[in-house]
This record gives sequence, structure tokens and C-alpha cells, in this order.
Amino acid sequence: MNESTDVSRQATTLRDALCGSLRLEDIDQTVTVCGWVGRRREHGEHLAFVDLRDHSGIIQCVIDGSVDVRSEYVLRVTGTIRHRPDGTVNDKLATGEVEIGDCTVEVLSAAEPPPFSLEDRAEIDEQVRLRHRFLDLRRPRMQRNLRIRAGVNRALRAAMDAQGFVEVETPILWAPTPEGSREFAVPSRLHHGSFYVLPQSPQLAKQLLMVGGLDRYFQIARCMRDEDLRADRQFEFTQLDIEASFVTQDDILGFISGAVLDAAEIVTGDRPTEIPVMTWHEAMDRYGSDKPDLRVPEQLIDLSEVFADSEVRAFSAPVVKALRLSGHSGMSRSMLDGLTEQAKLHGAKGLAWFRVLDGEDGLGLDSPLDRFLSDDERSKVLAITGAVAGDLLLMVADEWRLASEVLGTLRSTLLSPPVSEGAPHYLWVVDFPMFDGVDAAGNPSAAHHPFTMPHPDDLDLLETDPHAVRSQAYDLVLNGWELGSGSVRIHRSDIQSRVFRALGISDEDAEERFGFLLGAFRYGAPPHAGFGMGIDRLVAIFAGEDNIREVIAFPKTQSGTDLMTGAPAAIPAQNLLELGLRPQPREA
Ligand code: AMO
Repeated sequence: MNESTDVSRQATTLRDALCGSLRLEDIDQTVTVCGWVGRRREHGEHLAFVDLRDHSGIIQCVIDGSVDVRSEYVLRVTGTIRHRPDGTVNDKLATGEVEIGDCTVEVLSAAEPPPFSLEDRAEIDEQVRLRHRFLDLRRPRMQRNLRIRAGVNRALRAAMDAQGFVEVETPILWAPTPEGSREFAVPSRLHHGSFYVLPQSPQLAKQLLMVGGLDRYFQIARCMRDEDLRADRQFEFTQLDIEASFVTQDDILGFISGAVLDAAEIVTGDRPTEIPVMTWHEAMDRYGSDKPDLRVPEQLIDLSEVFADSEVRAFSAPVVKALRLSGHSGMSRSMLDGLTEQAKLHGAKGLAWFRVLDGEDGLGLDSPLDRFLSDDERSKVLAITGAVAGDLLLMVADEWRLASEVLGTLRSTLLSPPVSEGAPHYLWVVDFPMFDGVDAAGNPSAAHHPFTMPHPDDLDLLETDPHAVRSQAYDLVLNGWELGSGSVRIHRSDIQSRVFRALGISDEDAEERFGFLLGAFRYGAPPHAGFGMGIDRLVAIFAGEDNIREVIAFPKTQSGTDLMTGAPAAIPAQNLLELGLRPQPREA
């Protein structure tokens, strides 16, 4: 990582060196540094060793003990670089061989004692950190994370620029967009009763830019969604958002792979060679997830044939799938019951489990279901799964998708390490289904959004078997997190009308919700495709953090509040009146 510790770049009228930049070769030079007081150690009455800290690191300053400097005071210190006395060299510090002696100290700001230690290693309650985020940001971990983030943005911008993309800003006060989350609305002062909507992404704006002939657009775009917050979700987040004309899916995969791998190389020093591509069907079949964590080698095993004519009632289903967990046979009954509950929560009728044990005549299975298995079934299960003594087999019998998803969830709960651990494993997942489930009215729901182009081979199925239609939608996955999504868009009005019809969106509905886009398409829409990638998620994984809050300067808590500013908060009645709003107490 380029830490920007180049002294010449950081010299100002007030200082000529950064604290963390001083080394043996600077000995005998007179320098002026500025920073915050970290630790202070008294040496007799007349000397104090003060650690002065700026974003680049720490330098020890030897100053007159009578000067009043306390924790987090802001100082300007001028002195001479010299060797630390023998026996006081600190190997753990980049500047640990030197110190600044004969110091003249100017106190630029006094400080109250901080409410928590700003030492990086200190474990501090997150609520306290967030309430005083401006202090938390002084800690090396946060400094590092935000600088990694800046490095990622810089690399992404450079990569998009090099590929001929034009950076365009799109409106924040905007209209509904089609991502399908709940939206934040902003009341209009000039048009009482009317609202702007904060964009869930620049989706429609970037498609209009394609109609506008921009050809290749990108933006490091703020997006807003009012959804439940989790480790990988905030109300406000940032996407690398792109759209390009006269391209195919492969072109987009190429643009984004190039940008992400450039960022990886700049931040981590390692450039993964290539990002593998897998169809959605294969991902679901092998890993039970559309965002498989490829750090985990275990795959789902199909046992449907073994149980095709089985007498075992629990296994009479279109598909029987298994997950083999090495060395998990010691799992307690209560834990297995917990897994069964989890499987049921995800829609399974039950979860069959088998402990694999050494028996008198070879391997045996320990399970309430074992006595129902025929010898042939038992030996086939052992042979196909390759199970050995000490393993645990989990099985779900159901429809293909449900059986796969339930085992996929258990696979990631039981086997996935924290997202930032281990070598990064990227994956492109392509050929997503066009529709996913049905809405309240019984119409198929769009899996990506309604402007996604169906797979050309499946167009004929739109009216007859919509759930079998694949789309030209693709996701980028990293360590089991969805990093980004995109699709080839529909640019032909006949196909768009058919897709709206399949979704149960009437012509009038479509006109009302997306009329401005459909209208624009009547004036010559180029074939186009695009992608939106979550920068917060990418940076978190690069920075070794498992929650995107750690790479956002001013994040919200899990319950959506900002502990530092107190937002969201009431606003004066007068302001509400101006907006044409009357506060209403929340109904109990
Ligand atoms: P999608 O809705 O899949 O696609 O979002 C793309 C990526 O944005 C990130 N993301 C989030 N990150 C943090 N907090 C959130 N609440 C959040 N929601 C989404 C994820 C996700 O993969 N317009 C389309 C893209 C396109 O088709 O071009 C879109 O926004 O990393």
C-alpha cells in the first residue's frame, strides 16, 4: 500500500516531516513535526518522553518535563533527530531507533482526557467508539482502513479511466429505482405532498446516459436503501457503478475483473490471475448458494439415485442431497437438533444426520434413520460420499433447489470462516434465473430487475414457463459475499413489454413507474449492459474486517442511528410545516 509517507509531499508551512517518517539517515537534522500526544513517560523531574502521533506513525520526543502536555494535546515540536540511547531502541516501531531531542514545544490545542484509549490494541465498546467517531478515526486501524479505501477508489477510477469510461454524477434527489428495497423519501418544500426518492442505485440514470450516447459511464456512487442492517449492509453505501453500450456480458465481466484485480494488486500486493466463471445452476447444485464461498472445499453430494426406489419415507423426494462434514461425528444431539431447526426454518421438512463410525464389519452409520436403510443403500451412501470414520453426513430430501439451498446454508454456517480470513476467492456467477418466486399477486418476481435481458436461448419460454427462463444477469462473489451484480439490459420495446407482462406489470403501471425510461428508449436505445459493485464490501475484505462499518468513516449502528450526531432526530415543527408535514405519534 502506498502510505503517502513521502515527506516532501506532506511538508507544510507548519511542519517539515511526518512523525512516522523519521529514520537513522535523518540523524542530526533539525525537524518540525506536528501531532497528538500519545503516551508520556516522566524521566526524573526535568525530562519527559512523549510519543507524538500523526497518521504516519509515532516519534518519541524528549521534552522539558515542566511543559504541560497531556494525552491528545496537539503539539508542534521542533528539535534534532538523534539516536535513542543504548538499550532503549524499540524494534516494534518504524521510528524506534531515533528520537527528537532538544525539543521546543508549541501547544497548538489543549485536549480533555479522551473517553477511551486510542491505542490500536485496546478493545473498546463499539457504541463508545461510534459516539466519538472523530477520536476513533485517530486510531491506526481506522487510519489504515480509510486509506485502503482511498487506495481502492483510486485504483478503480484509474482502471475505468484507462478502459475509456467517463465519470458522470447522477442525481441524489431522484425518483424510484427498480432494485426492490424500501426507499428513503425526501419531502418537497415547493410541492407539498410530493417526494423525491433517494436512489437505491443510479440504475435508471445510467441507462439514460447510454441513450444519451455517453457510451461508457462510471461513477463511485452513493446509494441509499432502507433495509435491515447487517455486517454487509448499511443504509448508505457506495458502488462502483458502470454501464456501457455496444457490449456483451463478457465485455462487462472483463471491465470489472480488470478493475477489481488492479485494486487487489495495489492494496494487497497480489494479483489473482483470473476470476473463474460458473453458472448459477452449477453454483446451486455444487454449493447450494448463488454466492458460494470457494474457500470451503466441501461440496454437496447428490444421493438421489441411491434413494430413487427407497422404502425410507423421509427420502421419498425428487432429490436427496448430502453434505459430508469431516471429523464432525462428535457433534452433540442438541447441536444436531439445532441444525434441524435451522433446516426447517429454511423450508426443509427435516434434516437427516448420520454419524460415520468404525463398526465390527467396517464402517457403520449411527442415526435414528439407520435402521430403515437397506444394506445396499448404506453401502452406496458410504461409497458415494467417500465418508470415513469420524465424519458426519447431513441430508435433505426435497425439490432440487430447496434441498440445495438448505444444505448450502448449513455449509456456510458450519464451515465458512470469517469473510476476511484466508486467501481471497473470487467467482463470477452467470446465467441467473430471470424470475425468482412469485409476488403477493402470484406473478413471477424479477430476480435482478425488470430491465434485465432474458437469455437469448430462453426467450420462447417467457410466456409458457417463465421460471425456466435464464437471464443475462451475473454476480461477482468474494469469499461468500456478493460483491456486485449486473445484467445486459433490454433495449427493445417488444421484449420489454413481454417481460413486463410476465411480471404482471400492466402497460399503464410501467408507464407510471418507468415512463421516462421507456419514453427515452423510443428515441434509439443502444444495446447496453452494466454492473454495480459494493465498494464497502470489497474494502472490508481487503482490510481484514468482517463488518463494513469498519471501513466507513461515519457509519450507522445496527438499528440505523448515528450515535455521534443523534440522527435520526425530530426537527422543529416550523420546518415540518414548511414541508407540508404534520408529525404523527407512532402507533403502539
Ligand atoms: P444490486 O442491488 O445487486 O444491483 O447491488 C449491487 C451491489 O451493491 C452492494 N449493496 C450494498 N452494500 C452495502 N449495503 C447495502 N445495503 C447494499 N445493497 C447493495 C452489494 C451488491 O452486490 N443497479 C444494480 C446493478 C446493475 O444492474 O448495474 C444494483 O444496484 O455489493
